[in-house]
Amino acid sequence: MPQKIFIVGGTGAQGMPIVKSLVSDKKYHCRILTRDTSSPRAQELLALGNVELVSGTFANQSDLRNGFRGCDGAFVNIDGFNTGEKTETYWAIRAYELALEEGIKFFVYGNLDFGYQLGGYDAKFRCGHYDGKGRIGEWILFQNQKNQGRMRAALFTTGPYIDMVIGQRTPMTPYVDKDGVVTWAVPLGQGAVPHVCLQDCGVYVRWLFENPQEANGLNLAVAIEHVRYEELARAFEKVTGHPARFVDVDLDTYWSSNRGVAPGGDRITGYNADAKDPAAMTNRQNFTGFWNLWKHSGGNKGVVRRDYALLDKIHPGRVRSVEEWFRQEEQRGVKAGKGSLWERVQEENLGPVLKIAEDGFRGRL
Ligand SMILES: NC(=O)c1ccc[n+]([C@@H]2O[C@H](COP(=O)([O-])OP(=O)(O)OC[C@H]3O[C@@H](n4cnc5c(N)ncnc54)[C@H](OP(=O)(O)O)[C@@H]3O)[C@@H](O)[C@H]2O)c1
Repeated sequence: MPQKIFIVGGTGAQGMPIVKSLVSDKKYHCRILTRDTSSPRAQELLALGNVELVSGTFANQSDLRNGFRGCDGAFVNIDGFNTGEKTETYWAIRAYELALEEGIKFFVYGNLDFGYQLGGYDAKFRCGHYDGKGRIGEWILFQNQKNQGRMRAALFTTGPYIDMVIGQRTPMTPYVDKDGVVTWAVPLGQGAVPHVCLQDCGVYVRWLFENPQEANGLNLAVAIEHVRYEELARAFEKVTGHPARFVDVDLDTYWSSNRGVAPGGDRITGYNADAKDPAAMTNRQNFTGFWNLWKHSGGNKGVVRRDYALLDKIHPGRVRSVEEWFRQEEQRGVKAGKGSLWERVQEENLGPVLKIAEDGFRGRL
């Protein structure tokens, strides 16, 4: 079992609960790669104890080498919203190879579903920030068949964080309509989104490191549940006592709105991706594939599936419904001084979910 774990993406929305879980009882030591060791998030992690910060970037061989060296485990979540799909592909491959070279014993890859492949290579499912990870996830599992004697590996496949349904500038940012109804107007139809609870990610990733035998070669794909947005709205009403609705919109209506990710539709996905590169996707292209994946996914019997029985076994206390998450988040928000959920979805109170949003979608590669 690894003791010292190198983390890429530790200061991010996904990485923070993972680091917190790993160091919670001082069983693990985490070495975290960050471009800015002085950021509030990096400093918050440092203050937990058993945490070491190393300055650098995943887009540099020696930074990766130095990070892996002396560690026996690794959790690697390469930020595709920095790099774009093409550059992410290269550095994810190199991260796996350098981990092998430097003697990592268990490698966990922060993955997303390979929607394009799962959907039968249908162009409507092309989504660079999903395929860029999922394609490499497949490659890692394939490499692992040969390399597992030296380094074992597992995938940790997540999905859209549930926090984004109350977040600012996300694909599913809500608004309060003139009639006072909290509204999610998204192109989802009768489809469902396998939303993920960030707090639970910590438990899952720790389980992977603690059960290397069972976890080796596993694609641990997690979610709370496949969330239909009619149910999302009903759950919000139940928990807050305020009216909510889902409005199914077509893609053109979605992209012509002034909310969420729509105003940035013409920009290239990946703030350091080359807009002139024919491989680049616009946010509109990228998130159209994203929504198609959920709209046409056919719930848990369709394109993107989850083994909820396995998740119950690994994490019996996991959040199992969006209503449960809303209840917990209501309490968390009040305790943290952010206000109730109803207050938090008012336009002036919507807050960022991702570090990238806090940083204004900029930074170095
Ligand atoms: N949004 C979602 O719902 C969702 C769901 C599942 C997966 N994802 C995927 O997760 C990835 C982003 O992670 P996140 O969701 O945790 O986002 P985030 O909150 O914006 O965090 C980004 C993380 O990436 C790190 N990072 C960015 N560029 C880096 C570089 N060049 N070198 C080293 N570290 C770098 C940042 O570290 P520093 O800033 O400290 O350097 C930070 O820890 C993306 O690939 C995204 O597709 C997103």
